[in-house]
Amino acid sequence: MTAATKAAAGAPAQAASREASGAAEPVPVIDMRDIWRVYGSGESEVRALAGLDLRVDRGEFVAIIGASGSGKSTAMNILGCLDVADRGTYVLDGTDVSRLSYRELALVRNRKIGFVFQSFNLISRINALRNVELPMTYAGVERHERRRRALAALEMVGLGRRYTHKPGQLSGGQQQRVAVARSLVNAPSLILADEPTGNLDSVSASDVLDVFEQIHTTGRTIVLITHDQKVAARAQRVVTISDGRIIDDTRWGEAERRANREAAAKAGVSLSDGGTSPERPAAGSGTVPGHGIDQMAPGFDAAPDYEAPKRRRARDKAKAQAADTGDGDNGGAPTETIPAVSK
Ligand SMILES: Nc1ncnc2c1ncn2[C@@H]1O[C@H](COP(=O)(O)OP(=O)(O)O)[C@@H](O)[C@H]1O
Ligand SMILES: [Mg+2]
Repeated sequence: MTAATKAAAGAPAQAASREASGAAEPVPVIDMRDIWRVYGSGESEVRALAGLDLRVDRGEFVAIIGASGSGKSTAMNILGCLDVADRGTYVLDGTDVSRLSYRELALVRNRKIGFVFQSFNLISRINALRNVELPMTYAGVERHERRRRALAALEMVGLGRRYTHKPGQLSGGQQQRVAVARSLVNAPSLILADEPTGNLDSVSASDVLDVFEQIHTTGRTIVLITHDQKVAARAQRVVTISDGRIIDDTRWGEAERRANREAAAKAGVSLSDGGTSPERPAAGSGTVPGHGIDQMAPGFDAAPDYEAPKRRRARDKAKAQAADTGDGDNGGAPTETIPAVSK
């Protein structure tokens, strides 16, 4: 057992009993129990997460909302397998990731999670199509198939006719929709969006939220992190976090969601405070659900530049573990298969 494994092995008995009792239920996409993440020690100790419990079932569209400092980013990092909890268990789509090495976490991340970030994280020198193809390039998908799936994903986000545009030739909202298309081609268990409308004007923000709603209707599981009530109100379920714990968990009915959507549209509300040039993309540029997206392959990590300090820490830990486990440090490079996981 490695040092990190020991640190994360908070509640093995609990996990075992859950496996036994959960036999008849569907496997949730997210099953977090009593997650703790503490920064610093002594007088400077900060309990960023203090006993977080969260279960998200397949096909849910959940917003996690909380004030600044409430623990959203910390929760996002753990949900996204970019960091591990100090205590508690996290089972992602049936895989217990609370005891994996950082290298193993990178592999799970590549396979199971599609990321959408506030700043889009597109590669500026290649066009939309190639940006969306990247995950499949890493996974070794054949060129023709790659192109077919990428076009299907771009169609799905309403950009089927703009695939030759480079990010600089697209509005913010369009760039974010390209990023959403890219997040889909992994066929991930979970789409994890971190303030995805934070850099957008209200109209583009609303368009991007429309896309999330639409991919949700195709069966995707989405967790969206935001500080903005109006954005959260577009989700099916709103989880409020404060001082590292969940203090409210509300599921909206379809009628209430429609009312939220219509109220936002009517008021032309500002969904974010960023953005001054509403460049609305051509309306209805072809939203065709479905084809090919569900057979998409894993392999690309859209998160390599996210939270650089945490990654540095992760690499340091991985290096320390390498001596222990014999794992080499591949710097978190995407790999195509998930090796057998030693528990
Ligand atoms: N690397 C860190 N070192 C020390 N404290 C941290 C670190 N990251 C976050 N915190 C603290 O943990 C708490 C939760 O932070 P965070 O998860 O970033 O909240 P949010 O994203 O909701 O603003 C805050 O008090 C923050 O100052
Ligand atoms: Mg934050």
